[in-house]
Amino acid sequence: MSMHPIVAELVTEMKKACATFDDPDEIVATVALAAKSLAENKSWLRPEYFECDEEQGMGITILNEEPDHSILVETVAWLPGRGVAPHDHQTWGVVVGIDGVEVNINWRRLDDGSNPDFAELETAEERQIRNGDVVPLLPDDIHSVRNEGETTSLSLHVYGRALSSLERYEFDPINKIRRVCPQRKRRD
Ligand SMILES: [Fe+2]
Repeated sequence: MSMHPIVAELVTEMKKACATFDDPDEIVATVALAAKSLAENKSWLRPEYFECDEEQGMGITILNEEPDHSILVETVAWLPGRGVAPHDHQTWGVVVGIDGVEVNINWRRLDDGSNPDFAELETAEERQIRNGDVVPLLPDDIHSVRNEGETTSLSLHVYGRALSSLERYEFDPINKIRRVCPQRKRRD
């Protein structure tokens, strides 16, 4: 399937930002502006981006990934009532709300990380993400997402590296556990 020109433009902007800046904060700020414009102009959207896998509660469609696994662009849909546990990304990222409402929780880590299987987290910020709202993500940031609306939600996710190529972590704040994040099913 050929890439929609507006998605191709975003990919170009992401490559330019990575070539211009070393600091992930600056990359994220630049890429966020480009990603936000895709929330305003929805001409690139396809109905299949909303299709979810019942078992994992979500549907991920890869729109771009470079051969060296950099510059990942994907859409993520969540069924009502479904979401993901707190996790990190081990790369910079930007999430932009497209459709529906996703509750995004940013978590603060309280322990010193010396025990690889242990993590103590507390909620730092809870926000409702709707069309055009941006969630910036730095490599060690921890967030969780839940669709508390009545319709399938959709958001655009862009990352410096393909998440499938990274060892990332998932957290259980109640039992204070850190473990390797399971691989999600993705389609392209
Ligand atoms: Fe995430």
